[in-house]
Amino acid sequence: MSEFSSPLLRSVLYVPGSNTKALAKAPGLGADALILDLEDSVAPEAKVAARGHILEALRQIDHQTLFRTVRINGMQTDLWRDDVTTVFPGLPDAITVPKVDHVDDLAELARLLDQLEGGQAPCPIWAMIESPLGVLNAFAIAAHPRVSCLVLGTSDLGEALGVEATPERESLQYALQHCVLAARAAGVAIIDGVFLNLKDADGMTAQCRQGVRLGFDGKTVIHPNQVVAANTAFMPAAAAIERAQRLVAAWQAARDRGEEICLLDGRLIERLHVRQAQRLLDLAQRAAARQTS
Ligand code: COA
Ligand code: MG
Repeated sequence: MSEFSSPLLRSVLYVPGSNTKALAKAPGLGADALILDLEDSVAPEAKVAARGHILEALRQIDHQTLFRTVRINGMQTDLWRDDVTTVFPGLPDAITVPKVDHVDDLAELARLLDQLEGGQAPCPIWAMIESPLGVLNAFAIAAHPRVSCLVLGTSDLGEALGVEATPERESLQYALQHCVLAARAAGVAIIDGVFLNLKDADGMTAQCRQGVRLGFDGKTVIHPNQVVAANTAFMPAAAAIERAQRLVAAWQAARDRGEEICLLDGRLIERLHVRQAQRLLDLAQRAAARQTS
């Protein structure tokens, strides 16, 4: 079980670290979290400058209102170490690591973070699962003590599997479900991959809802116009909130009568349903608090 508390992560926006305009805009776009990117959205010749832009952005953006994570270059590169040491003074809320195939890939990064922290609160790692090996090793990766979240890289995964990226993602279903299972077994959060077609709002909404049904906590997004779709889909609907409130009340009334189970609208309610309802109400409350802050 992760030692880190889970923030609200309905929409997680990638922002290229080389794009100063996007970095300046990002905090005002309504996303729950940002992935300030040094990896695939940044050209090789722009990587060094991007580190500086990200450090500046981390210092500007209040971590109390927005979760800020930095995606470093992969552990297979000679860039990741300087990525981490340069941005670390900006106190990122997590370091996102791309292309994690095996839990051992995280060992050197964990050692570097230990050194940089010097006994201060540990910085969590978000591990990206975007290869067949990563999927197969997802539980061991998620169970690493530093890992607080898995992030799906569905484009890279699709390429590695040699499958066509359809909006319905039938060819990724098993991998997606495997990763959700791994994250839940390890007690960490899990965020779905991106939807690439910025012109297809209906497709984006449908894929967000699919992510909700599969059990993800939120979705990574690439553009401001995708934030609302993710926030809406991963926020419990008004009817679900109302039912959860009635469910908790009905079960409490049953407990007051000394009973452990009851019926609501003809359906059996047990303690587990109350826990589910309470989780939903907690999510709704945190999302509402974010909207009004
Ligand atoms: N974060 C913050 N702001 C963003 C943004 C993002 N990811 N994407 C676009 N914006 C801003 C633009 O800077 C622009 O600002 P402006 O109105 O002040 O000029 C505005 O939103 C509208 O952008 P638009 O013109 O529609 O898109 P674009 O052509 O500038 O950018 C992309 C399109 C896809 C290149 C851009 O959205 C992007 O870089 N997304 C992230 C990609 C990424 O990180 N991929 C890696 C993980 S898959
Ligand atoms: Mg990727």
